[in-house]
Amino acid sequence: MSEMDLKEKDASNKILSLVSHKLKTPLSIINGYSEAILSQAGKEKFSPFTSKALEEINKQGSKMAELVDKWLNYNKISAMKPVDLKKTDINLKTLVKECASRAIAKDDDTTPTVPTAEPAAKRGTYIEIDCSERLSVHADKEILKAMLEEMLDNAIKFNNKMEKIIKLQCANHGNTVSISVRDYGAGIRPQDVNRIFDPFYQVDDYFTGQINGWGLGLPMLKNGAELHGGTVNVVSDRGLGSIFTVTLPIQ
Ligand SMILES: Nc1ncnc2c1ncn2[C@@H]1O[C@H](COP(=O)(O)OP(=O)(O)OP(=O)(O)O)[C@@H](O)[C@H]1O
Ligand SMILES: [Mg+2]
Repeated sequence: MSEMDLKEKDASNKILSLVSHKLKTPLSIINGYSEAILSQAGKEKFSPFTSKALEEINKQGSKMAELVDKWLNYNKISAMKPVDLKKTDINLKTLVKECASRAIAKDDDTTPTVPTAEPAAKRGTYIEIDCSERLSVHADKEILKAMLEEMLDNAIKFNNKMEKIIKLQCANHGNTVSISVRDYGAGIRPQDVNRIFDPFYQVDDYFTGQINGWGLGLPMLKNGAELHGGTVNVVSDRGLGSIFTVTLPIQ
């Protein structure tokens, strides 16, 4: 990259980050007040319209706050160099369990309670973890956590099955470890696979009509892996689901 390109990249990162910070304060006020009003005792004195409106303001405000955080995190990681990493020894099983619980809790919060025609149908997200207790990796914990959460978030989000099964597997390959997340959801067509790591690229949505997010999660995943001297690999096809695998040096 030339000096000019680097300067431009630096300036645009600064602008993005400034805009995001400017959005954070008003958003936390909108979210804080709407939450406080909603949780007030005697909420039932509001008309159904007012309650609905408050809930919607709070829901959309939280979504927006999540978008701003994602944007900030993407900018932070894309501006980092390997020397900026705060590496420690991380036990993988503990970390993957923590991320899996978070992903499920987040999914419960956002899953609409759509009445189902088949009451017996199982509804839910199940993350099966296969990871040895003693496996560890020398990495930046915050970044690794963001990477894992991104893979799980996508595995849940691009999946319209009633019962979502996700397999999270860690493996030791001597000098490297791999962490893979497998889902049986939407999958990705071969012509899109190479483009999903481009910033802001999202494949046309075909089941919800609107994709929540920026298209910044996978570029962040790739940046995070490369900062550690690692790689990201994807095997996927439409209708069959996807396997995203991150491979990182153990040390
Ligand atoms: N597990 C998956 N199954 C199917 N499609 C996926 C999966 N993961 C990513 N994709 C496709 O790749 C695109 C880019 O993914 P990415 O995580 O970068 O963005 P996003 O999830 O849409 O938004 P963001 O991560 O910013 O919230 C997605 O919009 C989706 O079309
Ligand atoms: Mg994503």
